[in-house]
Amino acid sequence: MNLAFNPSQTPEVDGLVVLCPPGDYADPAKPLEGPLADYDDALEGHLGHMAGHRSFQGKKGQQVALHTLGKLPFTRLLLLGTGKATTAAQWLRLGERIGEAASKGRWKTLAVLPLQRPAADHFEPLVRGTLLGGYRFDRYKAQSEDEPDPVATTDVTFIGPDQTPALQGVGSLADAVCLARDLVNEPAGVMTPTALAEAAQALARDDDHLACEVLDEAACEKLGMGLLLAVSRGSTEAAKLIHLTYTPPNPDPALPKTALVGKGITFDSGGLSLKPSASMKDMKCDMAGGAAVLGAMGLLSGFGVRCEVHGIVPACENMPGGHAYRLGDVIRGLDGPSVEVTNTDAEGRLALADGISYARSLGCERIADLATLTGACLVALGPEVAGVLGSPEKMCTDLLTAADRAGEDMWRLPLVDGLKDQLKSQVADCKNAGARWGGTITAALFLSKFVKDTDWVHLDIAGPAWLEKPKPGRPAGGTGFGVATLIHWLTKAEGEG
Ligand code: BES
Ligand code: MN
Ligand code: ZN
Repeated sequence: MNLAFNPSQTPEVDGLVVLCPPGDYADPAKPLEGPLADYDDALEGHLGHMAGHRSFQGKKGQQVALHTLGKLPFTRLLLLGTGKATTAAQWLRLGERIGEAASKGRWKTLAVLPLQRPAADHFEPLVRGTLLGGYRFDRYKAQSEDEPDPVATTDVTFIGPDQTPALQGVGSLADAVCLARDLVNEPAGVMTPTALAEAAQALARDDDHLACEVLDEAACEKLGMGLLLAVSRGSTEAAKLIHLTYTPPNPDPALPKTALVGKGITFDSGGLSLKPSASMKDMKCDMAGGAAVLGAMGLLSGFGVRCEVHGIVPACENMPGGHAYRLGDVIRGLDGPSVEVTNTDAEGRLALADGISYARSLGCERIADLATLTGACLVALGPEVAGVLGSPEKMCTDLLTAADRAGEDMWRLPLVDGLKDQLKSQVADCKNAGARWGGTITAALFLSKFVKDTDWVHLDIAGPAWLEKPKPGRPAGGTGFGVATLIHWLTKAEGEG
């Protein structure tokens, strides 16, 4: 997709979207202003008439769509209400609405005219949203008449002064989000641990600064990754420990060696602690953390990240069966405490624990993990907000700042020390599951036993990784949540908060 800036307010394109802040567009006593007045003149008052007819006031998501009947250089005109857009997340959502309008309208060329200029920091999310708004996952669908195949938008012009630097890499970022979505949206029977590992290998093939090593079960066994392997035992699919290494071409020795660890449960049936069907239905999404890590790893060289980064995805399937790990089993991983299994559905923390220990064995000095870890996080924060836990404080606040800039909603939760008692076991050093209350926190406390004193932030993305029902510009399914935050985090300018 070509992105450009152009000062002309009458571009020759298939569709022009005018972003309209709240105002009196519908009041016949008040004439339209600025470019809208010019368009209204060319359309002989039709624009003002339609705005009045639709009571268009620039409220969030309000729309007025017109055909310009050859009277203007652009074929379609869409007024899109912005409401009060003051955050990156709001501009991202606006972008997604624009992208959806362009793709539904089958516009090959699109221009966007913001009547109120977004702040410099809001351009990236706006453009990313525009690129993402046309995303679909339809490879398993027959072409239907009411939903014809989309026409790809090839050119997007932003009307206004040149902001090219703000757009550095936004196209590849949107592509990486789409990759993460695709990996999640593939059925679990296709996106097996082996297939996920192949996706990682493909990333490394295309990138001179990225190397991929895939540890098979024998290699995991030899290293002692008994937690990952225990989760995998009920499945006929082979577990894989995916390890991508990014070696920066111009490393900054002051920056810490970093690990991104992503939960890669390609399907979570719950194991012997079997989930009911309604809870199991969408559990192909349980590798969304791993997908976000793969998406981010593919971006590091393009964004010129200057620290060494290890992308680690412990990948397996959690299934019941004659070989499945049992409740009451005591298992041991690469490092850390022995674990009594009290619930086989608390499998993500087990696989992650071995991923985290592996990161530590590589000498990583800070770890960010992403995981669809607990249903409790949806109860606490709702389906659109990720939980952030970790230590020291600065790891959490840096991550939250990056999330703010990326337009991804996250909220910090405390690592309440007293809840550690819930993980005490009679037979082992700890249990893998606590009681019901504070489930997101006890899961993080479990991980902290393996993280030890390494700087660490944990993102519980169980809610925002998956969209249950479509929203404007956002199809149901995998969302690619986390990719943008990770890249904002890893590229933040030195000395910035
Ligand atoms: N993958 C699930 C968590 C999940 C729930 C992700 C809903 C996305 C949407 C995780 O493995 C799980 O089953 N967690 C259990 C933990 C419990 C057994 C301690 C849960 O949340 O119920
Ligand atoms: Mn589970
Ligand atoms: Zn799970």
